[in-house]
Amino acid sequence: MRYLTTPIYYVNDVPHIGNAYTTVTADALARWHRLCGEETFFLTGTDEHGLKVQQAAEANGVTPKEWADRTVVRFREIWDLLNISNDDFIRTTEPRHYAAVKEVLQRCYDNGDIYLGHYEGLYSVADEAYVTPDEVPELERQGRKVIEMKEENYFFKLSKYEQPLLDWYESHSGFVQPTIRRNEALGFIRQGLRDFSISRTSIDWGIPLPWDASHVTYVWFDALTNYLTAAGFPDDEARFGDMWPAVHMIGKDILRFHCIYWPAMLMSAGIEPPTSVLVHGFLTVGGEKMSKTALNQIAPADLVADFGVDGYRYHFLRDQPFGPDGAFSYEGMVARYNADLANNLGNLLSRVATVVGTKCGGVGPAPDPNSALGEKATVALDAATTAWGRVAPSIALEETWRLIGAANSHLENHEPWKMEPGADLERIMGDALEVLRIVAILAYPAIPASSDTIWERIGLAGSPGDARLPGATQWGGYPGGLPVVKGDALFPRIKA
Ligand code: MSP
Repeated sequence: MRYLTTPIYYVNDVPHIGNAYTTVTADALARWHRLCGEETFFLTGTDEHGLKVQQAAEANGVTPKEWADRTVVRFREIWDLLNISNDDFIRTTEPRHYAAVKEVLQRCYDNGDIYLGHYEGLYSVADEAYVTPDEVPELERQGRKVIEMKEENYFFKLSKYEQPLLDWYESHSGFVQPTIRRNEALGFIRQGLRDFSISRTSIDWGIPLPWDASHVTYVWFDALTNYLTAAGFPDDEARFGDMWPAVHMIGKDILRFHCIYWPAMLMSAGIEPPTSVLVHGFLTVGGEKMSKTALNQIAPADLVADFGVDGYRYHFLRDQPFGPDGAFSYEGMVARYNADLANNLGNLLSRVATVVGTKCGGVGPAPDPNSALGEKATVALDAATTAWGRVAPSIALEETWRLIGAANSHLENHEPWKMEPGADLERIMGDALEVLRIVAILAYPAIPASSDTIWERIGLAGSPGDARLPGATQWGGYPGGLPVVKGDALFPRIKA
């Protein structure tokens, strides 16, 4: 995978575990592909124009740009905290982005796909979207303000792209994943597509249209283009040629923009649509989508304080299958953490380090080339590879943890802590160390810092992140003769 993106988040919102779900999942996917030897460029950023930001800035008595500069920090900090390995962080207020938006607009305009008209209707500020009267009751129930709008707008001829989009979907079966979301997008297209407004005159916080500076670009047209900007569009053709098309990861709330508007805009501008759009469901809290009005937003930092960064990352990757909605609960998080991290993985590491310390003089022995665990490691690699390939981190981790479970059972069956030092004991400990080495690599996309710690404690140099699959997990890679260190509990148990 050459280029993977997250949505760019509204800069004035406070990051919550829903936004972080997308970013952590995309981060893990990027890390997996890098382990597979692919040069994966990973992008995230913030969406800084539009009415939402303008209103927030006004309410705080500062300019929109000052407001964005102040609030963007919250996103940068949270991604640092969560060990997100993005290669770039794009802000739509950057000059490089203005150039890209203007170029896309101009191309669509020159192609005859943009015309002047009037918009009269309703607009949801929270969603930065034009809405229909039948959508209003639900929006109001969620506390999302709907306003009347009447203004001269430029429109994009989305209707012209109905058939080209259907053809694109037909010839690119993996364009939207999973299939349930692909069908949802196809359903929208088949209902018939209406042209959409791409400019505003009643606000000025945005990018002026190249041919009519009295209009600013509609925030979604502006925001979607960020994916091109960060790939070097329009000036760096060589880079853009190498990077594009991208893979986008998004939540289901913005499916229509990414799976319909965006490919149509790109077709109009003569640019290839994305390789695929990976769409996940919502995290719900107490049965509701998280929102400011429902007052049920959870800050990632609060959970990190209790579970650690890797405890946090692991939970959402393992417990919230990619695709459907999933309910978050603190109790569930404690249970999962204790079972998988404190007991299963944490125990394996501490048992191995203890026995090697007391019975092997602190020097890790080499594994048995014919160990039955070797076969289990191959199965884990194959299953994890398939699962990551279809964007199913929860299954990839489940399969990886099966290998940890097998190593723990192996120890329980042989009870090396009761054995005399000697060749038999060394073989068993070597096998367990080899499983730890392999698991450090396979689990690295989810728990990178803990994988580094495991690696170091079993005496290996460098980082499991530098390993390359599939070769690196071949049974027998742990050389033996390395110092093994006990250290503190990797994942201290949490009291429920
Ligand atoms: N700025 C637009 C996106 C522009 S992309 C060109 C936007 N921003 S947002 O801040 O509202 O972020 C929306 C995204 O955050 C969702 O698509 C999803 O990825 C994530 N989530 C927000 N709430 C979520 C949940 N409750 N659960 C899971 N993900 C959620 O829309």
